[in-house]
Amino acid sequence: MKTSPHRNTSAIVDLKAIRNNIEKFKKHINPNAEIWPAVKADAYGHGSVEVSKAVSDLVGGFCVSNLDEAIELRNHLVTKPILVLSGIVPEDVDIAAALNISLTAPSLEWLKLVVQEEAELSDLKIHIGVDSGMGRIGIRDVEEANQMIELADKYAINFEGIFTHFATADMADETKFKNQQARFNKIMAGLSRQPKFIHSTNTAAALWHKEQVQAIERLGISMYGLNPSGKTLELPFEIEPALSLVSELTHIKKIAAGETVGYGATYETSEETWIGTVPIGYADGWTRQMQGFKVLVDGKFCEIVGRVCMDQMMIKLDKSYPLGTKVTLIGRDKANEITTTDVADWRGTINYEVLCLLSDRIKRIYK
Ligand SMILES: Cc1ncc(COP(=O)(O)O)c(C=O)c1O
Repeated sequence: MKTSPHRNTSAIVDLKAIRNNIEKFKKHINPNAEIWPAVKADAYGHGSVEVSKAVSDLVGGFCVSNLDEAIELRNHLVTKPILVLSGIVPEDVDIAAALNISLTAPSLEWLKLVVQEEAELSDLKIHIGVDSGMGRIGIRDVEEANQMIELADKYAINFEGIFTHFATADMADETKFKNQQARFNKIMAGLSRQPKFIHSTNTAAALWHKEQVQAIERLGISMYGLNPSGKTLELPFEIEPALSLVSELTHIKKIAAGETVGYGATYETSEETWIGTVPIGYADGWTRQMQGFKVLVDGKFCEIVGRVCMDQMMIKLDKSYPLGTKVTLIGRDKANEITTTDVADWRGTINYEVLCLLSDRIKRIYK
């Protein structure tokens, strides 16, 4: 999809806030741990190239979700180590090896397919994935890990790391977390040898179980200034949201009582009403669920009325405003604020999803 630089809707990304948030995590966790930010999914919508370049001096490496995301960073001269967190197609391992991209090895079966490839494997670096209870990818018993290490050694593949991922680190009940921790520790204790990097923590685990942070902290959502638990658990220190979403009024009119607004005529005015049109819609990731929610105009909350269209939506104004008046969808305007988590709560989802759905069509402006 093409960005729309001439459209008056923008996501403003504060790279300094991202740097500040990383600095705060560095103070919070074990000083020997390296931060490898999760810049997958275009850095949660913030722009993976821009974010990676802006924080490169603060971090040990980067985490992405697939090979193409890693290649994009290499193409933009990001030279730090990169780890792909999902299993890739075995035929593509030569690309990873050539670009010094570390791969997750999710199973012995996958590694056997890799060694069948007639590729030069001596530059390949792998991190064995351990499924300690997430139920997604990774080995579940130590014998499989040890067979993988043996196979890697046979083909001179660099067994660089081993890691797991916690499913409930953002929840108050620690039962499942402790269970995963015990399973992972048991597997680590039975390994035939230990790699350079053992790692297990995402943001939530580092925030609320910082003793668990090992060689690498895979820091995602809170680097962008958001609480992984939404509004459930309190943060041990303050972080700054890095993204705000703004637009402008492109049309303003007064309509009579009894008129309807939008597809399906789902909103009917009960009195004469000022209606403003804002150029953002569900094709931008501003979903139809946003009907009935609010935006800020001149620091005041205004309701989103009628169905959100593909490219535009309508809001109820308290009075007439000039064309081009700023509309804040996420962020602060005067005394009031709408957070990404407020949007997520309204939609019944998580703040991660709100950010990741903001489409490429919305231009990003970097502060
Ligand atoms: C394996 C892995 N590690 C780390 C992260 C970063 O998670 P968070 O954004 O919660 O810090 C993710 C994100 O989903 C992940 O899949």
